[in-house]
Amino acid sequence: MRHLMSPLDFTPAELDNLFDLAGDIEHNMPKYAHACEGKKLAACFYEPSTRTRLSFESAMLNLGGQVLGFSDANSSSASKGESVSDTIRVISCFADICAMRHPKEGAPMVAASHSSIPVINAGDGGHQHPTQTLTDLLTIRSLKGRLRDFTIGLCGDLKFGRTVHSLIHALVRYPGVRFIFISPEELRVPDYITEMLQEKGVSYEEVIRLEESMPNLDLLYMTRVQKERFFNEEDYVRLKDFYILNKDKMALAKPDMLVLHPLPRVNEISVEVDSDPRAAYFKQVQYGVYVRMALILTLLDIQV
Ligand code: NCD
Repeated sequence: MRHLMSPLDFTPAELDNLFDLAGDIEHNMPKYAHACEGKKLAACFYEPSTRTRLSFESAMLNLGGQVLGFSDANSSSASKGESVSDTIRVISCFADICAMRHPKEGAPMVAASHSSIPVINAGDGGHQHPTQTLTDLLTIRSLKGRLRDFTIGLCGDLKFGRTVHSLIHALVRYPGVRFIFISPEELRVPDYITEMLQEKGVSYEEVIRLEESMPNLDLLYMTRVQKERFFNEEDYVRLKDFYILNKDKMALAKPDMLVLHPLPRVNEISVEVDSDPRAAYFKQVQYGVYVRMALILTLLDIQV
């Protein structure tokens, strides 16, 4: 039995198969409409989420399966003090696969080690968010036609943003990928990540101003400043509007640069950018459903 805790749980070759399957799903949806009939997905969300939870639910419903679960810790037995390892033992009796989001780093990993069904990490604290990364990689592969030889700018909250941490880990396995980290001093990418890049000899740069880097980017990954992970309100208020991507800044970018964002967006991308053909963040949401469908089929070992 296989779980998904980190994007590195799949080799690049396995990811290629997953993305091929997602591509087939995109173009032949009806073929997959009954693939998971009789199967149930438990969406166990101990932390607020709209898109990730609904994306999993939509993926399972598209496959003809059913969904159950909870969308905040207060409506689960966690509020009575139940441990994650007990909860997953119970959920294993109700469902065939579980997607779990938790504010504590490592909680889905604990669940996986006590589970008799596949567990998918749907985001654990500031740590990893592997299905967002699969979404991001599929979006890049589909819209850019390749997963190598590009310069990607990651902008915003690089300290707490788990989507960023997961994506960097996944991208270092592809040749010719260069990183530009764009953040205020206080929200710089953690040292363990820059140390990993140095060890692997991957090229990266850390800058504060977005404008300077714009002309060099093939991809710009914008992120939200993560209010819920700040220890004090003052710091959050000072940093929340540090970056605002608008038409003027887009004018500095290459004509085929893509803008990605895991969403939800707050102020960091002005709505005037939405109509720019380079804005790919809503397409990204659609790719997220295809890739989660492919992942559910793969982890349940269902061939269509
Ligand atoms: C992200 C998350 O939850 O980490 N959202 C998502 O899953 N699409 C990013 C965020 O909340 O800012």
